[in-house]
Amino acid sequence: ISRGMATSSPMRSAINHVTIVGGGLMGSGIAQVAAQSGNKVVLVDVKEDIIKKAEESIVASLKRVAKKLHKDDHAKGEEFVKSTLANISYSVDLQKTVKSTDLVVEAIIENIKAKHTLFTSIDSVAPEHTVFASNTSSLSIGEIASVTKRKDRFGGLHFFNPVPVMKLLEVIRIDETSEETYQKLMNWGKAIGKTCITCKDTPGFVVNRLLVPQLGEAVRMLERGVATSRDIDIAMKLGAGHPMGPFELADYTGLDTTKYILDGWHEKFPDVELFKPVETLNKLVSEGKLGRKSGEGFYKYN
Ligand code: CAA
Ligand code: NAD
Repeated sequence: ISRGMATSSPMRSAINHVTIVGGGLMGSGIAQVAAQSGNKVVLVDVKEDIIKKAEESIVASLKRVAKKLHKDDHAKGEEFVKSTLANISYSVDLQKTVKSTDLVVEAIIENIKAKHTLFTSIDSVAPEHTVFASNTSSLSIGEIASVTKRKDRFGGLHFFNPVPVMKLLEVIRIDETSEETYQKLMNWGKAIGKTCITCKDTPGFVVNRLLVPQLGEAVRMLERGVATSRDIDIAMKLGAGHPMGPFELADYTGLDTTKYILDGWHEKFPDVELFKPVETLNKLVSEGKLGRKSGEGFYKYN
């Protein structure tokens, strides 16, 4: 076998080294689950203090997972935390990090310009075989990929919050995604313990296209005075078996995130009733009430 052929050998098709960009709520969870499965992970963010926070949240979450996995064996639990943490390193230098990575998962703010800047900055630096993926909630994967020269090695990997707990991964193919890339993404998703579904590049993919309009409808129901937010939440938990009611879930996801999603869709599809702006949601966000992360949303948190 010539050296040239070695680049397309099975070794290359396996994803072992992963770069996660954005160490917020989602990125830190994705880094954690990848590391738990033995990947070498580098988590990249823009500032050291954010990285420190990400590290703290990963340690806290890993301890919860360890408790569950090794209920009766404290030493094994500690070993699990230690060995997982050993698989994660942190960086503020994205360009340097991607030079030796098999997969880049982007989980930065939900803003197309920011995502374009990011992918443009790494497209010519990352190795040929490296696959790029975005964890966007609501933007078009094709539009994000359009600034790169590797649309065949581009797809969507949409995780759910909290990543270490939620079992689903939506794998999104754009028209240009090659079969090889798609298989790599599906196999990686399975390897990190997720159940994968395949979805076209349409707004909200499967889950958010159903979930986000429902959150909007719940707020409209509240505005019409049909019931209190607490009673609507109780109703959906006990009457529909949802683990959280719509207001609890909106607070959990972040009201700003929910608003960004609806605003983006409304701009693109102004005639769709379900995507229309929701007054109470906009008001809360303008007051800085973003849900759990800011201490108050539809509910107050201490
Ligand atoms: N890390 C590790 N483990 C965690 C965790 C975390 N961040 N959060 C919760 N857990 C574990 C807990 O340790 C606990 O484990 P045990 O069962 O062993 O005790 C288990 O999960 C349940 O947690 P809690 O007892 O604290 O609370 P709960 O029973 O209310 O469950 C929940 C919490 C899993 C978040 C549950 O309420 C739930 O499933 N809520 C709905 C979440 C959801 O719908 N997410 C999707 C949002 S949409 C999205 O993410 C897409 C988007 O693009 C916006
Ligand atoms: P977040 O605000 O918690 O975290 C974003 C992180 O990205 C921040 O730490 C920020 O410093 C960092 N960042 C911003 N620009 C960067 C850059 N150029 N390079 C490196 N890091 C950068 O946001 P989140 O809730 O984790 O969401 C991240 C992405 O995941 C978004 O696209 C969002 O739509 C999507 N998503 C969110 C959820 C959710 O429930 N919150 C669920 C699924 C998908």
